[in-house]
Amino acid sequence: MTIHSDVAATQRQGFTERVEVEELRLRELLGRLYGGDPRLAETLDGLLGDVREAWYSRPDELKELDEHRQRDPRWFESTRILAGVCYVDLYAGTFADLIERIPYFEELGLTVLHLMPVYDAPEPNSDGGYAVSSYRATRPALGSIEQLRDLATKLREAGISLALDFVFNHTSDEHEWAQRALEGDPEYEDYYWIYPDREMPDAFERTTREIFPDNHPGSFVPVQGDRWAWATFHSFQLDLNYSNPRVFRAMAREMLFLANLGVEILRMDAVAFIWKRLGTSSENLPEAHLLLQAFNAVVRMVAPGVLFLSEAIVHPDDVVDYISPDECQLSYNPLQMALLWSTLATRDVGLLAQALAHRHALPPGTAWVNYLRSHDDIGWTFADEDARQLGIDPDAHRQFLNRFYVGRFEGSFAHGTPFQTNPKTGDSRVSGATASLAGIEVDPEGAIRRILLSQSIVLSTGGIPLLYLGDEVGQTSDSSYLEDPGKAADSRWSGRPPYPGARYAERHDLASASGRLYAGVRRLLAVRAELPAMAGGALVPFETHDSRVLGFVRPGGVLSSASVLVLANFGDDAATVSALTLSGMPASAVDAMSGETFDLRQPLVLGPQRFVWLQV
Ligand code: GLC
Ligand code: GLC
Repeated sequence: MTIHSDVAATQRQGFTERVEVEELRLRELLGRLYGGDPRLAETLDGLLGDVREAWYSRPDELKELDEHRQRDPRWFESTRILAGVCYVDLYAGTFADLIERIPYFEELGLTVLHLMPVYDAPEPNSDGGYAVSSYRATRPALGSIEQLRDLATKLREAGISLALDFVFNHTSDEHEWAQRALEGDPEYEDYYWIYPDREMPDAFERTTREIFPDNHPGSFVPVQGDRWAWATFHSFQLDLNYSNPRVFRAMAREMLFLANLGVEILRMDAVAFIWKRLGTSSENLPEAHLLLQAFNAVVRMVAPGVLFLSEAIVHPDDVVDYISPDECQLSYNPLQMALLWSTLATRDVGLLAQALAHRHALPPGTAWVNYLRSHDDIGWTFADEDARQLGIDPDAHRQFLNRFYVGRFEGSFAHGTPFQTNPKTGDSRVSGATASLAGIEVDPEGAIRRILLSQSIVLSTGGIPLLYLGDEVGQTSDSSYLEDPGKAADSRWSGRPPYPGARYAERHDLASASGRLYAGVRRLLAVRAELPAMAGGALVPFETHDSRVLGFVRPGGVLSSASVLVLANFGDDAATVSALTLSGMPASAVDAMSGETFDLRQPLVLGPQRFVWLQV
């Protein structure tokens, strides 16, 4: 037997074993979702055929990668893991142009790259690509599917895993399925939630939330033929009907196509909304979890190295429900994101410390994706009950944060833009680039300190840190979207500026603000990489007895490595942590960030926005 056929036989064996396990799980899950539906049996058979076909056409190098990941399933807990996100067109131009940026990604130390949706989408209304017209075709301006595959390969060769979106809650109204549904083809009408009159829409809307109230009220939009279709987001994004098992199969096939392109992380877009039921909010329903688990079972048969990243920007209790090795191994951490901004505004670490103490721990085999901001707005998703526990009125606090971050609060440093203000409910969110939200326009040095302080928390609380590329050199918000008819109504574009070439050009120049910020970010990354305690996500709260100073410990290995005590002063003045507070610590410790040795028998003084990573 040749070596090659040996490898192939082992791989086939692995596939057979996975199918044995996952097929049972899939049958059970789909039985719970679709039991009694006459279409289920035929759908399942078809799906298992799709799975075999996808596995046989999966490229050898991806099968090897799967094996590699299975041998090292905790690979994403490394202290060197670093994710970045960008739009191909804004950041580089085409897929081929993005290949030219790989040397920079290597300089920065990226190990994961999330490309904002690259699929064919209507123009100019595409919701930044989240209105997908075909999952198997790319936007012509970016290049072809083959060029995307080539990019994925080049990234992999550079040690960078490609992450792409699986936008599976909705399609664009130009998707072939939607077109057929709108033309009245009953098979495809059943792929969406389309009704001939307002009766059902009115009934659903009694309990659903408005997500993009600037775009349309309620959850339904009028479509051709005097009918109404469910559209959670924009009117041109029609929600798929997962109560139809054929929709599950159709989307599972698209998912396998993406996996076989070389995508290693699938960002599961808008997971909260995928199942609807009359009389409920149609968010975070139990069936949404069963569906995700079913997708997980399917992908695991074909591409066991692929991970799911949950995008649930909802109440923290609901966010964590999506996280498990059998559902989504990774999840955005919108709570930490929101609370970092809240803490910068209030200079009081109470809510953030509470979140780290009670909402940070995750099951083994899973991780947070921590970030300061994404391509979307910042929503104040903390739990009302958590705020009340600290004596904070949640609504008043959200109103304060909205005013603060759009620069309508006396003394605020921030330059954000309001997003989707809903006069009916008083809700609002905030858009903008990190540097502008931190006030680089008015107070560059203060902004750099605030950004580095916040990034120090993102980079020291564990999990996968995610940078919105360009923010590491201090790109500012951009108002040119106001001149583009496809974007003007959506202020999230203010936070999606074009490639900040001038700032990148001065990134090694410490005389520039970009250079100082970049050097700070690089230093954080380099120090984190060398501290074993920064791996994984284990974290123990540390009470500093000063409302401005956040404290926590990242425990080291049992014998091998030191623990790290993180202390971070969010105040504008020096803060002191008393010797008594530090009495459980060794007599002295070295701050890994500055190299300075601190005598912990003495009070420890931290300057404004200063943080230390003490090896204890
Ligand atoms: C996700 C995306 C957001 C998009 C929405 C609808 O929340 O992050 O940009 O508007 O889904 O697809
Ligand atoms: C998207 C939107 C955000 C909304 C969320 C709901 O992320 O951008 O504003 O709150 O979806 O999941």
